[in-house]
Amino acid sequence: MNTLNWSELSFGYLPTDYNIRCYFRNGQWGNLEVSTSENITMHMAATCLHYGQEAFEGLKAFRGPDGKIRVFRMDENAARLKRSAEEIMMEPFPVELFTEAVKKVVKLNERFVPPYESGASLYIRPLLIGVGAKVGVQPSDEYLFVLFVSPVGPYFKTGFKPSKVIVMRDFDRAAPHGTGTIKVGGNYAASLKSGQLAHDKGYSMVVYLDAKEKKYIDECGAANFFMIKGNTYVTPESTSILPSITNKSLMQLAKDMGMTVERRPVPLDEIPEFDEIGACGTAAVISPIGWIDDPEKGVNYVISKDGEPGPVSSKLYHELRAIQYGEMADPHGWTTVID
Ligand code: PLP
Ligand code: COI
Repeated sequence: MNTLNWSELSFGYLPTDYNIRCYFRNGQWGNLEVSTSENITMHMAATCLHYGQEAFEGLKAFRGPDGKIRVFRMDENAARLKRSAEEIMMEPFPVELFTEAVKKVVKLNERFVPPYESGASLYIRPLLIGVGAKVGVQPSDEYLFVLFVSPVGPYFKTGFKPSKVIVMRDFDRAAPHGTGTIKVGGNYAASLKSGQLAHDKGYSMVVYLDAKEKKYIDECGAANFFMIKGNTYVTPESTSILPSITNKSLMQLAKDMGMTVERRPVPLDEIPEFDEIGACGTAAVISPIGWIDDPEKGVNYVISKDGEPGPVSSKLYHELRAIQYGEMADPHGWTTVID
């Protein structure tokens, strides 16, 4: 080390020096433990293995032009993990321990935070799992929090370029009153088959519609949707969308730019009225959507006429990245410098 070719990194797992673990046993959380092992050992009857007691998060650390490392909105990820845990009857991981663990794991793996010029970052993956042995369907009384990191490049090889997505009515990512609003593994298992089918057909992501009426736009693969109509930023509202921290940040930046922000159900039929459409999430920040195909209805929507990202999406993308990398002031105090 460091022999990594930073600018060639993809969005994948690479081993680093250390990870962190913390156990909940006998009714309390223990100390943060530093580990060099990439493995975890658990009981074969652990509830995470059988009954899906598993929640995770995803956030990033960025090295700035000043050499400083900044973590983006870790308090929001801590709060979302807490909510995910509560919804599936897991012991929530305390927010203060979460932020302490994030600072620690980034510091310990400092040499894996990609250089500023590479445009890469350090992905941070927190995991909370039920590890107590049960056979009856019930919550565990023992939990393990794990935190590992991996240097990552862009989520899409094409970078910040419009991609083509497909509407699939035969698959639901989450039910209207199921687990869509929390970040639990089962939602991702439910999206694997449709995701693969879409990729096989040459699409980057699946457009999931609301599970009941198949009328409204829900999520775009593992990302939120946003749309631009004139001076308005629109994002779908439903009971099965994961509240994206990137989307929350983009809504704020849009307001700062003087735009109106609307959160409401967005019918698929409204697509032709939007000037720009994008997917947003930690991994890609914004992935512009150029084309939406709906083969079942025989409709092909063209959003990007020239194959380029729209001006508002570009502005939002560059502004959010500039805050994350510490290239510009952070007016909302979203970043935490690791020292
Ligand atoms: N929606 C889903 C289903 C996701 O998995 C993610 C990724 O975390 C997002 C949206 C985007 O959320 P965030 O911006 O917090 O990463
Ligand atoms: C995102 O960060 O946008 C994601 O969807 C993360 C994914 C790897 C689960």
